[in-house]
Amino acid sequence: MTAERYEIAVFPGDGTGPEVVREGLKVLGALAEGDRARWRATEHPGGGQYYLAHGREWEPEGEAAARSADAILLGAVGWPGATLPNGDLAGRALVLGLREGLDLYANVRPCKLYPGVLHRISGEYREVWAPRNVDLVIVRENTEDLYTPARGRLRRAGATEVAIDTRVITQKGTERIVRYAFELARARPRGAPEDGAKRVTCVDKANVLEGCRFFRETFDRIGTEYPEVERDYAYVDAFTQWLVRNPEHYNVVVAPNMMGDIVTDLAAVLQGGMGFAAGGNIGERHAMFEPVHGSAPKHAGHDRVNPFATFFAIEQMLRWIGTTRADPMLGALADRLERAVARTLKEGHARTYDQGGRASTSEVGDRVAEAVRGAAR
Ligand code: IPM
Ligand code: MN
Repeated sequence: MTAERYEIAVFPGDGTGPEVVREGLKVLGALAEGDRARWRATEHPGGGQYYLAHGREWEPEGEAAARSADAILLGAVGWPGATLPNGDLAGRALVLGLREGLDLYANVRPCKLYPGVLHRISGEYREVWAPRNVDLVIVRENTEDLYTPARGRLRRAGATEVAIDTRVITQKGTERIVRYAFELARARPRGAPEDGAKRVTCVDKANVLEGCRFFRETFDRIGTEYPEVERDYAYVDAFTQWLVRNPEHYNVVVAPNMMGDIVTDLAAVLQGGMGFAAGGNIGERHAMFEPVHGSAPKHAGHDRVNPFATFFAIEQMLRWIGTTRADPMLGALADRLERAVARTLKEGHARTYDQGGRASTSEVGDRVAEAVRGAAR
């Protein structure tokens, strides 16, 4: 069999995005050593800073590359003062635009705590949750809910009188995200840390909101097709407490877009903070992977932010390519990357400022690249 070469369209973006992407590409390069190159990563400009300099969010070539690539890797977008004429974030084309344009309907955010990772609670660094108790995935609907363009302002004589966001929950959107969650629970090798159960928890506000009632009905209907997967329910407000108190109960969680956006940031605290949180924006044919911490303008240019989220985004990307293209080699490389990351974290010598350490972004990248080479031997 002749191995394919996969095209990866890379958008470093704004602020600290290029710094973490640089380390990600370093690690990706180390993974490819000693092997025929299985991918080609091509960088493209874009984002808020690019908009300020060039008057457009990205180039037509970048947009075309995103469409034709086997996978997309995004650093981060957003820069102070970079706003489109309509008030939207400049750079949104690379995040919300790709989610809409490529119909990346599943926002898949794994939340796993690795040994050696600390939590910053009340300003102190501690081990709060036992690593074996945090291993869940939040599957967030990524194309509708409050994120649809069904919004606007009623202005009279230039003054806003009413601002409206409409919450849109569709049958198609709900069915496919719920199905994604059940398929994932079925495929994951391990169930919930608490009891090993394959479980999908539906997070909503079905006690009040009509869209959530519909979301939950759909969850129940689709869920009956997966008898081996337990159906579990949580109102979003209660879920926030339970997640913090008993993360071991959760395996796969599914939520509508806006609630999913909020609870995934909370979940990131369980895994050590936003510096470790990665997400895949996944559709039928396309997918974009990103560290979810954002561009962090105040840290930009200091080589100090935590690049682990980008390594996890790359791991997730390799697994996705491997699965969708039926190429087990990519899954094996993702395993190797995960082992290298886990080993580096456990040793505790690669701690950036957010972990109470002094390591720089590039030092952490060097260590993980070295560990990747070690894992190959
Ligand atoms: C995320 C982010 C985005 C979102 C922003 C940057 C538009 O918070 O990916 O979670 O709201 O989805
Ligand atoms: Mn968010």
